[in-house]
Amino acid sequence: MDHVIYLDNNATTQVAPEVLEALLPFLRESFFNPSSSYDQARGPRDAVERAREQVGRILGAGSTTEVLFTSCGTESNNAALWGALRANADRRHVVTTAVEHPAVIEVAKEIERQGYRVTVLPVDHQGRLDPRDLVHALEKDTAVVSIMHANNETGVQFPIASLSRVVKETDPRILFHTDATQTTGKLPIDLQRDLPHVDLLTFSGHKLHAPKGVGALFVRRGVRWRPYLVGGHQERGRRAGTENVASIVGLGHACDLARRHYFAEEQLRAQHRRLEKEIRERIPNVLVNGEGAERLPNTTSFAFEYVEGEGILFALNQHGICASSGSACTSGSLDPSHVLKAMQIPFTAAHGSLRISSSRYTTTADFDRLTEVLPDIIASLRRMSPYWDQHKNAPKEGADVFVQGKYRGE
Ligand SMILES: Cc1ncc(COP(=O)(O)O)c(C=O)c1O
Repeated sequence: MDHVIYLDNNATTQVAPEVLEALLPFLRESFFNPSSSYDQARGPRDAVERAREQVGRILGAGSTTEVLFTSCGTESNNAALWGALRANADRRHVVTTAVEHPAVIEVAKEIERQGYRVTVLPVDHQGRLDPRDLVHALEKDTAVVSIMHANNETGVQFPIASLSRVVKETDPRILFHTDATQTTGKLPIDLQRDLPHVDLLTFSGHKLHAPKGVGALFVRRGVRWRPYLVGGHQERGRRAGTENVASIVGLGHACDLARRHYFAEEQLRAQHRRLEKEIRERIPNVLVNGEGAERLPNTTSFAFEYVEGEGILFALNQHGICASSGSACTSGSLDPSHVLKAMQIPFTAAHGSLRISSSRYTTTADFDRLTEVLPDIIASLRRMSPYWDQHKNAPKEGADVFVQGKYRGE
């Protein structure tokens, strides 16, 4: 395959060349342990602190002491939630949503297994949360609320500023966590100015052109939180383990670069809107998941009726196009993702989901190629689909699940 078209940037991103250049010296000559006392260790030590400032800046944190480095988004989420529970032992209740990434949902399940109560909030057909459900879910002993900033599959954004404010107005002792893995570097974030009620925020380096194996956790100053990973005294005793200096340097650099590219947000959004319009014009029976909600500029989740997402991916792969579906292949059966199920996307469409996620490296030609090949792929999969046959032969009235991308009666 000579040219790969990479449209799966919510899964991971390519390391920016400038990031690679910035981090390499810390794998070569400047390999020293930042905790060592000799002069040579000062370079890596200072570099980690510089990266902490860069991460603090992209988050609009009040102080660099609020930023901890971790190994990934998953660790950050575990640390946020377990740390909140351990520091508030009199509180036994957690609130989260049905569409969180497994890095939160599975933690919530484990929390429940450990004897806590967990309330999982539903979303509507567009993937949106009803703030009244959140208020009703809060209990006297709620320790932490965890709501993602934007969904990784659909790109649907949650109004974190107002949701966190509502929680604090109800009970200032409840901690508010947001998983910002899909928003950091894509949307401007200002924890001081715009999100003053967010106590804990997490994200991962490999989603914003830094390497894999590094993440960050923001813990607002004064928040009752206890370290999750204990051992050495690194990160001022709040996250043990010798620092992954090179990747931390890469993360800091990636944050600076991302801030310089915020201007491209509207351009990405326009490219996605054009893609959605063109696909709709060329392919019948397609839904854009979460269309009515505010969405990330770089994400489109399609649901093609009467085809399997895995089939679409296989065919795209043959054209050198990398994308992803919302299906998880579990024990031989292709189950729609928990996100699409929570949004109650009809069975016949949820199976045919396709997520397209771009980055600043994605070109118009990449989108054009996708638009060119996708109609034939869907048409040939539908020719093989018994459900498509049934649909075509069904009486017109009531046969379509969607009307202009909306559910009937909505
Ligand atoms: C919303 C969200 N949270 C957490 C994670 C996990 O991040 P990591 O792969 O760094 O553990 C991901 C990764 O896909 C994600 O999209």
